[in-house]
Amino acid sequence: MHEPLASAPLVFRDDGTPYSPRHDDIYHSVAGALAQARHVFLNGNGLPERWREKTRFTVLETGFGMGVNFLATWAAWRDDPRRATSIEFVSIEKHPFSAGDLRRAHAAIIDDQSISPLADALASAWPPLVAGVHRIEFDAGALTLTLAFGDAANLLPHLSETGVSADAIYLDGFAPAKNPDMWTPAIFATLADMTSEDATFATYTSAGDVKRALLQNGFEYRKAPGFGGKRAMLIGKRSCSQTVNNS
Ligand SMILES: C[S@@+](CC[C@H](N)C(=O)[O-])C[C@H]1O[C@@H](n2cnc3c(N)ncnc32)[C@H](O)[C@@H]1O
Repeated sequence: MHEPLASAPLVFRDDGTPYSPRHDDIYHSVAGALAQARHVFLNGNGLPERWREKTRFTVLETGFGMGVNFLATWAAWRDDPRRATSIEFVSIEKHPFSAGDLRRAHAAIIDDQSISPLADALASAWPPLVAGVHRIEFDAGALTLTLAFGDAANLLPHLSETGVSADAIYLDGFAPAKNPDMWTPAIFATLADMTSEDATFATYTSAGDVKRALLQNGFEYRKAPGFGGKRAMLIGKRSCSQTVNNS
């Protein structure tokens, strides 16, 4: 049985940044949602270069939120003449917005005109707020969005059983101190089972607990310059051996 779904209210801080009262955290850096998506999640995973080596490329995200990372990925893939033939974007969201709030959020935070039609297409195809897995196709099926509504702790094992194998992982579940449920060793252990051999990950956090959970569950990491005033973020990949990393 799926747990009942509680949608997210759309709330902005005084500086215009979308904010979650439930988690007492912001959805994106005040320095820019799209810019953060490109710096942390695309560049942090070596995209677009890495999808050029594949015909099919899978991104797995924890925390869909307003779909900014999805939209930035879609736009970068569409604009890349050497793109993979198809992209599968799999994401989990426990507290989705309504379609109307998604549109209002995009109107406020999308500062790139070329992304607006994609945001509009996403809001138009937005599934009903029903717990479970929703699959949406864009660009004549070359891009699929698998949106799993519910708790990541329950849904990741389910997605793993269905054979999701990620080439890139976007870890985006609010700050670990504010939302530890998205950063448990169990989550990382499941993610490690859901990766291709050369899979990479990126996240804006460089929290010690996250580093430990990564190392204990089959990933190696390194620090990279963070976004929007953050000194460091973490990027990395599946470990091929027992690497000790003290950075
Ligand atoms: C920082 S926001 C994600 C921003 C998003 N990636 C984007 O591009 O707009 C974190 C998201 O994680 C979701 N979340 C928090 N705890 C969760 C959980 N246990 N399972 C699934 N989603 C969760 C929140 O509702 C929120 O939408």
